Amino acid sequence: MSATASFLELHPDYAGTSALDELRVAEYRRLDSSGHVYLDYTGAGLYADSQISEHAELLEKELFGNPHSASPTSMKTTGAVERARASVLDYFNGTGNYTAVFTLNASGALKLIGESYPFSPGGRFLLLADNHNSVNGIREFARAKGSDVDYVPLTVPELRVDHPALIALLDEGDRSRANLFAFPAQSNFSGVKHPLSLIGAAQERGWQVLLDAAAFVPTNRLDLGIVSPDFVVISFYKMFGYPTGVGCLLIRNTAVASLRRPWFAGGTVNFATVQGRLHVLAPGEAGFEDGTLNFLGIPAVEIGLRHLERVGMELIQTRVACLTERLVSGLLPLRHGNGRHLVRVYGPASMTMRGGTVTMNFYDPSGSLLDYRRIDELAGLAGISVRTGCFCNPGAGEAAEGLTEDDMRAGFAEGATISLPRFRQIMQHRGGKSAGAIRVSLGLVSNLADVERYLQFAAGFLDQSALSIGAVKFDIESCRVIRDGS
Ligand SMILES: Cc1ncc(COP(=O)(O)O)c(C=O)c1O
Repeated sequence: MSATASFLELHPDYAGTSALDELRVAEYRRLDSSGHVYLDYTGAGLYADSQISEHAELLEKELFGNPHSASPTSMKTTGAVERARASVLDYFNGTGNYTAVFTLNASGALKLIGESYPFSPGGRFLLLADNHNSVNGIREFARAKGSDVDYVPLTVPELRVDHPALIALLDEGDRSRANLFAFPAQSNFSGVKHPLSLIGAAQERGWQVLLDAAAFVPTNRLDLGIVSPDFVVISFYKMFGYPTGVGCLLIRNTAVASLRRPWFAGGTVNFATVQGRLHVLAPGEAGFEDGTLNFLGIPAVEIGLRHLERVGMELIQTRVACLTERLVSGLLPLRHGNGRHLVRVYGPASMTMRGGTVTMNFYDPSGSLLDYRRIDELAGLAGISVRTGCFCNPGAGEAAEGLTEDDMRAGFAEGATISLPRFRQIMQHRGGKSAGAIRVSLGLVSNLADVERYLQFAAGFLDQSALSIGAVKFDIESCRVIRDGS
Protein backbone atom coordinates (compact mmCIF):
# COMPACT_ATOMS: atom_id res chain seq x y z
CA MET A 1 0.00 0.00 0.00
CA SER A 2 1.34 3.49 -0.83
CA ALA A 3 2.20 5.90 2.00
CA THR A 4 -0.77 8.08 1.02
CA ALA A 5 -3.19 5.17 0.99
CA SER A 6 -2.09 3.95 4.40
CA PHE A 7 -2.28 7.49 5.77
CA LEU A 8 -5.85 7.85 4.46
CA GLU A 9 -6.79 4.51 5.93
CA LEU A 10 -5.42 5.56 9.33
CA HIS A 11 -7.03 9.00 9.09
CA PRO A 12 -10.42 8.67 7.42
CA ASP A 13 -11.30 12.24 8.54
CA TYR A 14 -8.55 13.65 6.35
CA ALA A 15 -10.48 13.06 3.13
CA GLY A 16 -13.20 15.37 4.46
CA THR A 17 -10.68 18.25 4.53
CA SER A 18 -10.03 18.22 0.77
CA ALA A 19 -11.51 21.73 0.50
CA LEU A 20 -8.19 22.87 1.98
CA ASP A 21 -6.31 21.31 -0.94
CA GLU A 22 -8.56 23.25 -3.31
CA LEU A 23 -7.99 26.39 -1.28
CA ARG A 24 -4.23 25.88 -1.47
CA VAL A 25 -4.39 25.63 -5.25
CA ALA A 26 -6.71 28.62 -5.61
CA GLU A 27 -5.38 31.01 -2.99
CA TYR A 28 -1.89 29.95 -1.94
CA ARG A 29 -0.47 29.17 -5.38
CA ARG A 30 2.89 30.65 -4.44
CA LEU A 31 3.54 27.71 -2.13
CA ASP A 32 3.45 25.03 -4.80
CA SER A 33 4.74 27.18 -7.65
CA SER A 34 7.89 27.82 -5.61
CA GLY A 35 8.05 24.18 -4.51
CA HIS A 36 8.75 25.40 -1.02
CA VAL A 37 7.68 23.47 2.07
CA TYR A 38 6.53 25.93 4.71
CA LEU A 39 6.66 24.49 8.22
CA ASP A 40 6.69 27.54 10.46
CA TYR A 41 3.01 28.36 10.98
CA THR A 42 3.65 29.00 14.67
CA GLY A 43 6.12 31.65 13.56
CA ALA A 44 3.67 33.23 11.10
CA GLY A 45 0.55 32.10 9.28
CA LEU A 46 0.25 32.48 5.50
CA TYR A 47 -2.23 34.80 3.83
CA ALA A 48 -4.57 33.95 0.97
CA ASP A 49 -4.38 35.93 -2.30
CA SER A 50 -7.95 37.15 -1.79
CA GLN A 51 -7.10 38.76 1.56
CA ILE A 52 -4.57 40.94 -0.21
CA SER A 53 -6.77 41.81 -3.19
CA GLU A 54 -9.76 42.61 -0.98
CA HIS A 55 -7.63 44.86 1.20
CA ALA A 56 -6.02 46.54 -1.83
CA GLU A 57 -9.45 47.15 -3.33
CA LEU A 58 -10.62 48.78 -0.13
CA LEU A 59 -7.57 51.05 0.01
CA GLU A 60 -7.99 51.96 -3.67
CA LYS A 61 -11.63 52.82 -3.19
CA GLU A 62 -11.62 54.75 0.08
CA LEU A 63 -10.05 57.92 1.42
CA PHE A 64 -8.84 57.17 4.91
CA GLY A 65 -7.64 60.03 7.16
CA ASN A 66 -6.25 60.04 10.70
CA PRO A 67 -9.06 58.67 12.89
CA HIS A 68 -8.84 61.24 15.70
CA SER A 69 -11.22 63.87 14.31
CA ALA A 70 -14.64 64.53 12.85
CA SER A 71 -13.75 65.10 9.18
CA PRO A 72 -15.39 62.78 6.62
CA THR A 73 -12.09 61.00 5.90
CA SER A 74 -11.45 60.62 9.62
CA MET A 75 -14.94 59.29 10.24
CA LYS A 76 -14.46 56.83 7.39
CA THR A 77 -11.38 55.47 9.16
CA THR A 78 -13.13 55.35 12.53
CA GLY A 79 -15.95 53.38 10.94
CA ALA A 80 -13.54 50.83 9.40
CA VAL A 81 -11.58 50.43 12.66
CA GLU A 82 -14.76 50.00 14.70
CA ARG A 83 -16.10 47.44 12.22
CA ALA A 84 -12.86 45.48 12.60
CA ARG A 85 -13.11 45.75 16.39
CA ALA A 86 -16.69 44.46 16.32
CA SER A 87 -15.63 41.58 14.08
CA VAL A 88 -12.87 40.56 16.52
CA LEU A 89 -15.29 40.56 19.45
CA ASP A 90 -17.83 38.65 17.41
CA TYR A 91 -15.27 36.09 16.21
CA PHE A 92 -14.23 35.28 19.79
CA ASN A 93 -17.83 35.46 21.04
CA GLY A 94 -16.93 38.27 23.43
CA THR A 95 -19.38 40.96 22.31
CA GLY A 96 -20.84 42.72 25.33
CA ASN A 97 -18.47 41.05 27.79
CA TYR A 98 -15.05 42.03 26.46
CA THR A 99 -13.24 45.15 25.33
CA ALA A 100 -10.93 44.78 22.33
CA VAL A 101 -7.80 46.93 22.34
CA PHE A 102 -5.76 47.00 19.12
CA THR A 103 -2.02 46.72 19.69
CA LEU A 104 1.09 46.22 17.56
CA ASN A 105 1.21 42.49 18.25
CA ALA A 106 0.73 40.02 21.11
CA SER A 107 3.86 41.38 22.81
CA GLY A 108 2.41 44.90 22.69
CA ALA A 109 -0.75 43.58 24.34
CA LEU A 110 1.32 41.83 27.02
CA LYS A 111 3.30 44.99 27.72
CA LEU A 112 0.04 46.86 28.27
CA ILE A 113 -0.88 44.32 30.94
CA GLY A 114 2.59 44.41 32.48
CA GLU A 115 2.66 48.16 32.88
CA SER A 116 -1.00 48.53 33.91
CA TYR A 117 -1.59 45.59 36.24
CA PRO A 118 -1.86 46.57 39.93
CA PHE A 119 1.04 44.41 41.12
CA SER A 120 1.86 45.22 44.75
CA PRO A 121 3.72 43.79 47.78
CA GLY A 122 1.81 40.76 49.01
CA GLY A 123 0.35 40.21 45.53
CA ARG A 124 1.57 37.50 43.19
CA PHE A 125 2.42 36.97 39.56
CA LEU A 126 2.31 33.27 38.73
CA LEU A 127 3.50 32.01 35.37
CA LEU A 128 3.61 28.63 33.74
CA ALA A 129 7.22 27.68 32.92
CA ASP A 130 6.00 27.21 29.32
CA ASN A 131 5.48 30.91 28.57
CA HIS A 132 6.82 33.01 25.71
CA ASN A 133 9.40 35.62 26.71
CA SER A 134 6.88 38.37 26.08
CA VAL A 135 4.91 36.91 29.02
CA ASN A 136 8.03 36.14 31.08
CA GLY A 137 9.02 39.79 30.67
CA ILE A 138 5.98 40.92 32.69
CA ARG A 139 7.77 39.59 35.78
CA GLU A 140 10.01 42.68 35.62
CA PHE A 141 6.97 44.93 36.09
CA ALA A 142 5.72 42.66 38.90
CA ARG A 143 9.08 42.62 40.65
CA ALA A 144 9.50 46.39 40.36
CA LYS A 145 6.17 46.84 42.15
CA GLY A 146 7.08 44.37 44.89
CA SER A 147 4.89 41.42 43.83
CA ASP A 148 6.12 37.87 44.35
CA VAL A 149 6.92 36.04 41.12
CA ASP A 150 6.52 32.24 40.94
CA TYR A 151 6.68 29.67 38.20
CA VAL A 152 4.48 26.58 37.89
CA PRO A 153 6.75 23.71 36.76
CA LEU A 154 6.13 21.42 33.80
CA THR A 155 6.00 17.65 34.02
CA VAL A 156 8.50 15.70 31.94
CA PRO A 157 8.55 14.26 29.36
CA GLU A 158 5.12 15.53 28.26
CA LEU A 159 5.78 19.17 29.23
CA ARG A 160 2.31 19.64 30.71
CA VAL A 161 1.24 21.69 33.73
CA ASP A 162 2.23 20.15 37.04
CA HIS A 163 -1.36 20.32 38.27
CA PRO A 164 -0.85 19.66 42.02
CA ALA A 165 1.96 22.28 42.07
CA LEU A 166 -0.31 24.76 40.29
CA ILE A 167 -3.18 24.26 42.72
CA ALA A 168 -0.82 24.57 45.71
CA LEU A 169 0.57 27.84 44.35
CA LEU A 170 -2.90 29.20 43.55
CA ASP A 171 -4.05 28.33 47.07
CA GLU A 172 -1.19 30.42 48.51
CA GLY A 173 -2.59 33.63 46.94
CA ASP A 174 -3.76 36.33 49.35
CA ARG A 175 -7.30 37.07 48.16
CA SER A 176 -7.09 40.65 49.41
CA ARG A 177 -4.30 41.39 46.85
CA ALA A 178 -4.14 41.50 43.08
CA ASN A 179 -2.92 38.10 41.84
CA LEU A 180 -2.33 37.30 38.20
CA PHE A 181 -1.80 33.86 36.63
CA ALA A 182 -0.46 33.72 33.06
CA PHE A 183 -0.31 30.70 30.77
CA PRO A 184 -0.41 29.90 27.06
CA ALA A 185 -3.45 28.09 25.66
CA GLN A 186 -1.02 26.26 23.38
CA SER A 187 2.73 26.02 23.82
CA ASN A 188 4.78 27.58 21.06
CA PHE A 189 7.53 25.10 22.03
CA SER A 190 5.89 21.70 22.38
CA GLY A 191 2.42 22.21 20.91
CA VAL A 192 0.88 21.11 24.22
CA LYS A 193 -2.63 22.47 24.69
CA HIS A 194 -2.87 23.51 28.31
CA PRO A 195 -6.39 22.93 29.65
CA LEU A 196 -8.61 26.00 29.46
CA SER A 197 -10.20 24.72 32.68
CA LEU A 198 -7.16 26.22 34.46
CA ILE A 199 -8.82 29.61 33.90
CA GLY A 200 -11.79 28.76 36.12
CA ALA A 201 -9.58 26.95 38.64
CA ALA A 202 -7.53 30.11 39.14
CA GLN A 203 -10.50 32.48 39.13
CA GLU A 204 -12.30 30.40 41.77
CA ARG A 205 -9.28 30.98 44.00
CA GLY A 206 -9.42 34.73 43.57
CA TRP A 207 -6.87 35.09 40.76
CA GLN A 208 -7.13 37.01 37.54
CA VAL A 209 -6.01 35.12 34.45
CA LEU A 210 -3.95 36.23 31.48
CA LEU A 211 -4.36 33.78 28.60
CA ASP A 212 -1.72 33.92 25.87
CA ALA A 213 -3.72 32.63 22.91
CA ALA A 214 -1.17 33.64 20.23
CA ALA A 215 -0.17 30.07 19.30
CA PHE A 216 -3.63 28.57 19.94
CA VAL A 217 -6.04 30.61 17.84
CA PRO A 218 -4.49 29.89 14.41
CA THR A 219 -5.79 26.31 14.60
CA ASN A 220 -8.38 26.34 17.41
CA ARG A 221 -11.49 28.25 18.24
CA LEU A 222 -11.40 30.30 21.42
CA ASP A 223 -14.95 30.87 22.65
CA LEU A 224 -15.12 33.57 25.30
CA GLY A 225 -18.70 32.54 26.01
CA ILE A 226 -17.34 29.26 27.39
CA VAL A 227 -14.17 30.38 29.17
CA SER A 228 -13.70 33.89 30.53
CA PRO A 229 -10.05 34.77 31.08
CA ASP A 230 -9.60 38.33 32.33
CA PHE A 231 -7.06 39.12 29.61
CA VAL A 232 -6.34 37.49 26.25
CA VAL A 233 -3.54 38.35 23.82
CA ILE A 234 -3.23 37.51 20.12
CA SER A 235 -1.28 38.48 16.98
CA PHE A 236 -3.38 38.43 13.82
CA TYR A 237 -0.55 37.53 11.41
CA LYS A 238 -0.27 34.20 13.27
CA MET A 239 -3.94 33.49 12.55
CA PHE A 240 -4.15 34.40 8.86
CA GLY A 241 -0.79 35.80 7.76
CA TYR A 242 -1.82 39.37 6.99
CA PRO A 243 -1.69 42.07 8.22
CA THR A 244 1.46 42.16 10.32
CA GLY A 245 1.73 44.89 12.93
CA VAL A 246 -1.71 44.35 14.44
CA GLY A 247 -2.49 42.41 17.58
CA CYS A 248 -5.18 42.57 20.17
CA LEU A 249 -5.67 42.64 23.91
CA LEU A 250 -9.10 41.40 24.91
CA ILE A 251 -10.04 42.59 28.39
CA ARG A 252 -13.00 41.14 30.21
CA ASN A 253 -15.21 44.13 30.99
CA THR A 254 -15.22 43.28 34.68
CA ALA A 255 -11.39 43.52 34.66
CA VAL A 256 -10.97 46.82 32.78
CA ALA A 257 -11.16 48.92 35.95
CA SER A 258 -8.40 46.86 37.61
CA LEU A 259 -5.83 48.19 35.12
CA ARG A 260 -4.12 51.54 35.67
CA ARG A 261 -2.17 53.04 32.81
CA PRO A 262 1.11 54.56 33.94
CA TRP A 263 1.07 57.32 31.31
CA PHE A 264 -1.08 58.96 28.69
CA ALA A 265 -0.56 59.66 25.03
CA GLY A 266 -2.30 61.18 22.05
CA GLY A 267 -5.55 59.31 21.58
CA THR A 268 -5.78 57.95 25.12
CA VAL A 269 -7.02 61.09 26.90
CA ASN A 270 -10.37 62.83 27.01
CA PHE A 271 -8.69 65.88 28.47
CA ALA A 272 -5.13 66.98 29.32
CA THR A 273 -3.68 70.31 30.39
CA VAL A 274 -0.16 71.59 30.52
CA GLN A 275 -0.71 74.27 33.14
CA GLY A 276 -2.88 72.09 35.36
CA ARG A 277 -0.67 69.03 34.84
CA LEU A 278 -3.80 66.93 34.83
CA HIS A 279 -5.23 64.44 32.43
CA VAL A 280 -8.40 62.41 32.19
CA LEU A 281 -7.96 59.05 30.50
CA ALA A 282 -10.52 58.02 27.88
CA PRO A 283 -12.74 55.15 29.02
CA GLY A 284 -12.65 51.66 27.50
CA GLU A 285 -10.30 50.65 24.71
CA ALA A 286 -9.38 54.22 23.77
CA GLY A 287 -7.49 54.61 27.06
CA PHE A 288 -5.15 51.82 25.98
CA GLU A 289 -4.53 52.69 22.32
CA ASP A 290 -1.51 55.00 22.31
CA GLY A 291 -1.23 57.43 19.44
CA THR A 292 -2.49 56.63 15.97
CA LEU A 293 -3.49 53.04 15.34
CA ASN A 294 -2.39 51.08 12.30
CA PHE A 295 -5.63 52.30 10.73
CA LEU A 296 -4.83 51.12 7.21
CA GLY A 297 -3.86 47.65 8.39
CA ILE A 298 -6.72 47.12 10.84
CA PRO A 299 -9.47 46.74 8.16
CA ALA A 300 -7.48 43.74 6.89
CA VAL A 301 -8.18 42.03 10.23
CA GLU A 302 -11.88 41.91 9.41
CA ILE A 303 -11.05 40.48 5.99
CA GLY A 304 -8.78 37.86 7.59
CA LEU A 305 -11.38 36.81 10.13
CA ARG A 306 -13.97 36.46 7.37
CA HIS A 307 -11.50 34.28 5.49
CA LEU A 308 -11.02 32.01 8.52
CA GLU A 309 -14.80 31.79 9.03
CA ARG A 310 -15.28 30.80 5.39
CA VAL A 311 -12.59 28.12 5.59
CA GLY A 312 -13.87 26.79 8.93
CA MET A 313 -11.75 26.25 12.03
CA GLU A 314 -13.02 22.69 12.52
CA LEU A 315 -11.69 21.74 9.09
CA ILE A 316 -8.29 23.26 9.83
CA GLN A 317 -8.14 21.56 13.21
CA THR A 318 -9.00 18.14 11.77
CA ARG A 319 -6.39 18.43 9.04
CA VAL A 320 -3.66 19.67 11.35
CA ALA A 321 -4.38 16.86 13.84
CA CYS A 322 -4.14 14.16 11.12
CA LEU A 323 -0.92 15.61 9.73
CA THR A 324 0.66 16.07 13.16
CA GLU A 325 -0.03 12.45 14.00
CA ARG A 326 1.63 11.41 10.73
CA LEU A 327 4.61 13.65 11.44
CA VAL A 328 5.23 12.40 14.97
CA SER A 329 4.59 8.76 14.15
CA GLY A 330 6.92 9.07 11.15
CA LEU A 331 9.75 10.62 13.16
CA LEU A 332 9.75 8.42 16.26
CA PRO A 333 10.62 5.10 14.57
CA LEU A 334 13.62 6.51 12.65
CA ARG A 335 16.63 4.53 13.87
CA HIS A 336 20.25 4.41 12.77
CA GLY A 337 21.77 1.14 11.56
CA ASN A 338 22.93 0.40 15.11
CA GLY A 339 19.36 0.70 16.40
CA ARG A 340 19.72 4.08 18.13
CA HIS A 341 17.07 6.72 17.64
CA LEU A 342 17.72 9.57 15.21
CA VAL A 343 15.08 11.92 16.59
CA ARG A 344 14.01 13.01 20.03
CA VAL A 345 10.61 14.71 20.04
CA TYR A 346 9.99 16.99 23.02
CA GLY A 347 6.55 16.87 24.60
CA PRO A 348 3.69 14.49 23.87
CA ALA A 349 4.16 11.59 21.48
CA SER A 350 0.39 11.10 21.33
CA MET A 351 -2.28 13.42 19.95
CA THR A 352 -3.95 13.94 23.33
CA MET A 353 -4.27 17.67 24.01
CA ARG A 354 -1.60 18.69 21.54
CA GLY A 355 -1.59 20.95 18.51
CA GLY A 356 0.43 21.01 15.30
CA THR A 357 3.74 22.25 16.70
CA VAL A 358 6.39 19.55 16.99
CA THR A 359 9.83 20.29 18.43
CA MET A 360 12.77 17.93 18.19
CA ASN A 361 16.52 17.38 18.00
CA PHE A 362 18.49 14.96 15.83
CA TYR A 363 21.27 12.70 17.17
CA ASP A 364 24.05 10.75 15.43
CA PRO A 365 24.52 6.96 15.81
CA SER A 366 26.67 7.49 18.92
CA GLY A 367 23.88 9.50 20.53
CA SER A 368 25.64 12.87 20.11
CA LEU A 369 23.51 15.86 19.28
CA LEU A 370 23.56 17.05 15.69
CA ASP A 371 23.73 20.86 15.57
CA TYR A 372 20.20 22.15 14.98
CA ARG A 373 21.65 25.20 13.24
CA ARG A 374 23.20 22.94 10.59
CA ILE A 375 19.91 21.05 10.25
CA ASP A 376 18.16 24.40 9.71
CA GLU A 377 20.70 25.33 7.05
CA LEU A 378 20.32 22.01 5.25
CA ALA A 379 16.53 22.26 5.46
CA GLY A 380 16.76 25.63 3.75
CA LEU A 381 18.89 24.11 0.99
CA ALA A 382 16.25 21.39 0.60
CA GLY A 383 13.55 24.07 0.21
CA ILE A 384 12.05 23.59 3.67
CA SER A 385 11.41 26.38 6.19
CA VAL A 386 11.52 25.25 9.81
CA ARG A 387 12.34 27.19 12.94
CA THR A 388 15.33 26.54 15.19
CA GLY A 389 16.61 28.01 18.44
CA CYS A 390 14.67 28.40 21.67
CA PHE A 391 11.57 30.05 20.12
CA CYS A 392 11.56 32.74 22.86
CA ASN A 393 10.29 30.05 25.28
CA PRO A 394 13.28 29.27 27.52
CA GLY A 395 11.27 27.56 30.27
CA ALA A 396 9.92 24.76 28.09
CA GLY A 397 13.37 24.20 26.55
CA GLU A 398 14.97 24.02 29.99
CA ALA A 399 12.41 21.47 31.19
CA ALA A 400 12.65 19.44 27.98
CA GLU A 401 16.43 19.10 28.14
CA GLY A 402 16.67 18.86 31.93
CA LEU A 403 18.73 22.04 32.16
CA THR A 404 19.27 22.87 35.82
CA GLU A 405 19.72 26.01 37.85
CA ASP A 406 23.43 25.14 37.98
CA ASP A 407 23.50 25.03 34.18
CA MET A 408 21.90 28.49 34.13
CA ARG A 409 24.42 29.80 36.63
CA ALA A 410 27.25 28.47 34.45
CA GLY A 411 25.76 30.51 31.59
CA PHE A 412 25.30 33.64 33.66
CA ALA A 413 28.89 33.37 34.96
CA GLU A 414 29.76 34.77 31.52
CA GLY A 415 28.15 38.05 32.51
CA ALA A 416 26.64 40.36 29.93
CA THR A 417 28.43 38.62 27.04
CA ILE A 418 26.15 35.57 27.34
CA SER A 419 24.13 34.83 24.21
CA LEU A 420 22.23 31.80 22.91
CA PRO A 421 25.18 30.63 20.73
CA ARG A 422 27.57 30.86 23.69
CA PHE A 423 25.05 29.24 26.05
CA ARG A 424 24.59 26.46 23.51
CA GLN A 425 28.37 25.80 23.60
CA ILE A 426 28.44 25.77 27.40
CA MET A 427 25.54 23.29 27.54
CA GLN A 428 27.30 21.07 25.00
CA HIS A 429 30.23 20.87 27.39
CA ARG A 430 27.91 20.11 30.29
CA GLY A 431 26.88 16.63 29.25
CA GLY A 432 25.87 17.24 25.63
CA LYS A 433 22.65 19.04 26.57
CA SER A 434 20.98 21.11 23.92
CA ALA A 435 20.02 24.73 24.35
CA GLY A 436 17.69 24.91 21.41
CA ALA A 437 15.89 22.62 19.01
CA ILE A 438 14.17 22.30 15.64
CA ARG A 439 10.49 23.24 15.46
CA VAL A 440 8.11 22.11 12.74
CA SER A 441 4.64 23.62 12.82
CA LEU A 442 1.63 22.95 10.66
CA GLY A 443 -1.25 25.22 9.78
CA LEU A 444 -4.10 26.27 7.57
CA VAL A 445 -2.88 24.95 4.21
CA SER A 446 -0.39 22.28 5.27
CA ASN A 447 -0.74 19.06 3.31
CA LEU A 448 0.51 15.49 3.39
CA ALA A 449 3.22 16.26 0.82
CA ASP A 450 4.72 18.89 3.18
CA VAL A 451 4.92 16.35 5.99
CA GLU A 452 6.32 13.61 3.75
CA ARG A 453 8.98 15.99 2.40
CA TYR A 454 10.09 16.74 5.96
CA LEU A 455 10.10 13.06 6.94
CA GLN A 456 12.22 12.29 3.89
CA PHE A 457 14.57 15.13 4.83
CA ALA A 458 14.84 13.79 8.41
CA ALA A 459 15.55 10.27 7.17
CA GLY A 460 18.51 11.70 5.26
CA PHE A 461 20.32 12.04 8.61
CA LEU A 462 20.23 8.32 9.32
CA ASP A 463 23.75 7.06 9.92
CA GLN A 464 25.17 10.55 9.53
CA SER A 465 27.62 12.22 11.91
CA ALA A 466 28.40 15.84 12.78
CA LEU A 467 31.39 15.52 10.44
CA SER A 468 29.46 14.12 7.50
CA ILE A 469 26.71 16.75 7.64
CA GLY A 470 29.25 19.60 7.64
CA ALA A 471 29.81 22.69 9.75
CA VAL A 472 27.27 25.37 10.48
CA LYS A 473 27.57 28.72 8.71
CA PHE A 474 25.15 30.90 10.62
CA ASP A 475 24.09 31.51 14.16
CA ILE A 476 21.03 32.74 15.99
CA GLU A 477 21.30 35.36 18.69
CA SER A 478 18.27 36.87 20.39
CA CYS A 479 16.14 35.34 17.63
CA ARG A 480 18.21 37.17 15.00
CA VAL A 481 20.21 35.26 12.41
CA ILE A 482 23.89 36.17 12.17
CA ARG A 483 25.63 34.93 9.06
CA ASP A 484 29.37 34.27 8.99
CA GLY A 485 31.29 37.51 8.70
CA SER A 486 28.25 39.73 9.30
C1 LIG B 1 2.68 31.77 22.48
C2 LIG B 1 3.20 33.08 21.96
N1 LIG B 1 3.01 34.19 22.69
C3 LIG B 1 3.43 35.39 22.28
C4 LIG B 1 4.09 35.54 21.09
C5 LIG B 1 4.56 36.90 20.69
O1 LIG B 1 3.95 37.28 19.50
P1 LIG B 1 4.44 38.57 18.73
O2 LIG B 1 5.87 38.33 18.39
O3 LIG B 1 3.57 38.63 17.54
O4 LIG B 1 4.27 39.72 19.65
C6 LIG B 1 4.34 34.41 20.30
C7 LIG B 1 5.10 34.52 19.04
O5 LIG B 1 5.70 33.60 18.58
C8 LIG B 1 3.86 33.16 20.74
O6 LIG B 1 4.05 32.04 20.01
